[in-house]
Amino acid sequence: MESVQTIKQRFGIIGNSPGLNRALEKAIQVAPTDISVLVTGESGVGKESIPKIIHQLSHRKHNKYIAVNCGAIPEGTIDSELFGHEKGAFTGATQTRQGYFEVADGGTIFLDEVGELPLTTQVRLLRVLENGEFIKVGSSKVQKTNVRIVAATNANMHEAIDKEKFREDLYYRLSTVDIHLPPLRQRQEDIHLLFRKFASDFALKYKMPTIKLTDNAVEVLLKHRWSGNIRQLRNVAEQVSVLEQNRTITAQVLRGYLPTVGSNLPAVIKTSKSESDFSSEREILYKVLFDMKNDLNDLKKLTMELMKSGSVKDVEKNHEGLIQKIYGSDDDDDVDEVFEDSTEDTEVLSIPEHTSVSEAPSNIIDKYHFAEEIEEEETLSLQDKELELIKKSLERHNGKRKLAAAELGISERTLYRKIKQYDL
Ligand SMILES: Nc1ncnc2c1ncn2[C@@H]1O[C@H](COP(=O)(O)OP(=O)(O)O)[C@@H](O)[C@H]1O
Ligand SMILES: [Mg+2]
Repeated sequence: MESVQTIKQRFGIIGNSPGLNRALEKAIQVAPTDISVLVTGESGVGKESIPKIIHQLSHRKHNKYIAVNCGAIPEGTIDSELFGHEKGAFTGATQTRQGYFEVADGGTIFLDEVGELPLTTQVRLLRVLENGEFIKVGSSKVQKTNVRIVAATNANMHEAIDKEKFREDLYYRLSTVDIHLPPLRQRQEDIHLLFRKFASDFALKYKMPTIKLTDNAVEVLLKHRWSGNIRQLRNVAEQVSVLEQNRTITAQVLRGYLPTVGSNLPAVIKTSKSESDFSSEREILYKVLFDMKNDLNDLKKLTMELMKSGSVKDVEKNHEGLIQKIYGSDDDDDVDEVFEDSTEDTEVLSIPEHTSVSEAPSNIIDKYHFAEEIEEEETLSLQDKELELIKKSLERHNGKRKLAAAELGISERTLYRKIKQYDL
């Protein structure tokens, strides 16, 4: 039997916490059997490697392994995806189609987010688990298959059963063996290890020196709640690796990358902004809101003028500056630098790439918290906030506008205009 250490190496799994080791041991033990396994744990804890390990260590390894995300397939098509359909079973079914249970005969099917399965599909699944039988959609012929099921869920299945969203009999059938992956905050010894691994991977990928955390920063890392678990840790490691020029990361810098929501404490907009940074979603949102508000005010003004005067030509002549401000212009002779790409000017809502927030569902939740927070507690002036953002960016880049504009996600021309506007 393969050891936990070899499995970690083979499947690129980092960590040495008792919780992780126990989960891997269990996976190794059940792999040679045909027992159904339910992998549980919060989003981002690494559930997806367990079914792969089980399949690879089983006698089924030369047959198919199919991973199905039950939450991502529309309710109307999931039966047909899993069990196939007959020609003419429904509009558009022009050909008979094999489902995953037929294709994976002799192999393994991983049913991710199994809690999302519609009740009608749950009935079909129970049947296939109990006696290997299934019927294609639109058919009456019973077919046989021999598939091993590994399912995963981050949902509270007992609650789903109580609410009659999940069949209790199916739950017990699926969870003959339960493999639980604890959240990252309960795997303290793995946090820094994982961060170092990700930091070195990203250094390689982006051809930059590896970032290194100070002792205080490591403390911050360990204390964070990591509601998005390893997926979130990986994202933070990537953002810091890409954005920080100083490769020694202090606690203060690191905190700028960690959402305040997601900790158990209520999030408050800080009055002291010494720790803030563009990378925080809040500030980027401020910037976007501010840009929108500005443009809207300018457009309102222009519309009013048009309505009052009734002459487009007059308005064009009298409000040349305003029109230029809104739509930009190529012959802006105020501008004392060469702009390589004047088309950049139209990007009112462009957000820097690094803000494309992670795939982690828990981060999505964080974002909603964040939206509520702004509604309730927003008292700062957007204008002040933008001014501060620009100042900080210019400081950070020793007044180099090109770098500051890139960081802010606006064109150099727009930045130049703002500098003038705020008299910086
Ligand atoms: N122990 C680990 N070592 C290295 N990377 C991991 C580990 N656990 C998870 N990951 C990575 O974290 C991300 C999320 O894991 P995933 O299995 O998709 O989580 P889940 O399915 O539980 O939401 C993936 O990119 C995965 O490769
Ligand atoms: Mg997953």
